[in-house]
Amino acid sequence: MGRPPAAQTAIGPMVIAAVEQLQPADRRVVTDPLAVRFLPRVIGMLVRACRWGWWRRKVVALTDGKAPGLWAEMVCRKRYLDDQVRAALDAGIGQLLVLGAGFDTRGYRLAEPPVTVYEIDLPANVATKRARVTAVLGAVPGHVRLVPVDLGTEDLAESLRANGFRFDEPVMVVWEAVTQYLTEAAVRRTLALLGTTAPGSRLAVTFVRQDFLDGTNTYQADGLYQSFVRERRIWLFGQHPDQVASLLAEHGWTEREQLGGAELRQRYLDPVGRGQPVSELERIVTAERA
Ligand SMILES: C[S@@+](CC[C@H](N)C(=O)[O-])C[C@H]1O[C@@H](n2cnc3c(N)ncnc32)[C@H](O)[C@@H]1O
Repeated sequence: MGRPPAAQTAIGPMVIAAVEQLQPADRRVVTDPLAVRFLPRVIGMLVRACRWGWWRRKVVALTDGKAPGLWAEMVCRKRYLDDQVRAALDAGIGQLLVLGAGFDTRGYRLAEPPVTVYEIDLPANVATKRARVTAVLGAVPGHVRLVPVDLGTEDLAESLRANGFRFDEPVMVVWEAVTQYLTEAAVRRTLALLGTTAPGSRLAVTFVRQDFLDGTNTYQADGLYQSFVRERRIWLFGQHPDQVASLLAEHGWTEREQLGGAELRQRYLDPVGRGQPVSELERIVTAERA
């Protein structure tokens, strides 16, 4: 059986993070030397070929052809979430939970013992990630637990407990570019579980806009809408920006900040003189357990 369609989406964000490393340091928004190394070998070769400007422009155009500004949005999203993780670890939070981690590298770049990192993903991606991490680092570091869980059908609480997760200690949860692949029931079930984490826990989560899901605004991303929402039906869940706070509050979380493309551009691209458009397709939200 092939890799499920949702699992195949793990490559894209990390390709973008990896290609970003080819920017000169004074224009780079996110610094992630592990990104290209964690990607499957063939993909890593394609990324390295982006040193050639014409190839890089082609790869960026392929992404932005589906959704204008998506490339820059993912660059900024990676940076913003790095900042959130750094701040949480600096504040003394000792657990990092990455839901739908894909090939993300934060657990290996930003966290070190005594912080424990729990990476959750579909079994096929966890197996590939384990193989890549082992190839690159020699072994999965002792502070990282790679935990295969299908958030749609399996018991996350049980798997976390079995891997040593402490529900009585604060956690930084990163749930990046995943909620759209889940049903509303699975999103709510996961939020309900996250609502049982310790006070002081923090959450950073992204949501695709509900008006994109229901087709009332395609944000110029008609190709993406046709493919992901209508034909393949792999984007299932969205939220209206002004309804996120109440969804989170139902599960014991207080919204702290919510950003879209305009804020990301202002915060990360304008200061380094990169006036690229940034897609407004999704919102990044941070929240805290009271
Ligand atoms: C677009 S990728 C994002 C990966 C990573 N968070 C990042 O931003 O680099 C979506 C990830 O969610 C995972 N995912 C989708 N549905 C899932 C499910 N039901 N259970 C666990 N993980 C899931 C996919 O396997 C994939 O790794």
